[in-house]
Amino acid sequence: MDIKDHIRGIADFPKPGILFYDISTLLAHADAWQVAMGRLAHAVRKYQPDILAGIESRGFLVAAPLALKLGCGFVMLRKRGKLPGKTIRHEYSLEYGSDIIEIQEDAIQPGQRVVVLDDLLATGGTMAAGVELLRQVGAEVTGAATLIELNFLSGRRKLEALDVPVTSLAAYD
Ligand code: PRP
Ligand code: MG
Repeated sequence: MDIKDHIRGIADFPKPGILFYDISTLLAHADAWQVAMGRLAHAVRKYQPDILAGIESRGFLVAAPLALKLGCGFVMLRKRGKLPGKTIRHEYSLEYGSDIIEIQEDAIQPGQRVVVLDDLLATGGTMAAGVELLRQVGAEVTGAATLIELNFLSGRRKLEALDVPVTSLAAYD
């Protein structure tokens, strides 16, 4: 089964000239979603995680079911101001401006092995920020994984610069 058969390209979203890869059709197809999760589980198991971290919001859709499948815990990396209690934040640059992601300060025990999950690796800025935030709270980040990778934006290089191996199920040139 080719996962790409279940991912829709939608032109000119969110801006003219951008082709948006939409996972709604993959999520809605029970068999295809099951296959995708099975493949991701196979790949992510090799990183021997204790915990999976999902990046808000579409990363949650991937990380939470995968954590159940692998018997791992699941931790949320959230956009600013969403998490209660004491949090640690990491600010990262976007094409225009910057953004902040946060984690609860006690979400990870020092030295726990964590794999970070998202739906899509584009420039890699979001995923790299996730890695750096997890390291700030003492995680050992053993890998990163996504459903989709946009090769032409070279996000993989950002992760490699952080010494984090990346797996993706469907890459687009
Ligand atoms: C999208 C996508 C990734 C990120 C990838 O999230 O879900 O998280 O962008 O881009 P990057 O590799 O260039 O950083 P978005 O911020 O659109 O929000 P959402 O997940 O809440 O829909
Ligand atoms: Mg996202």
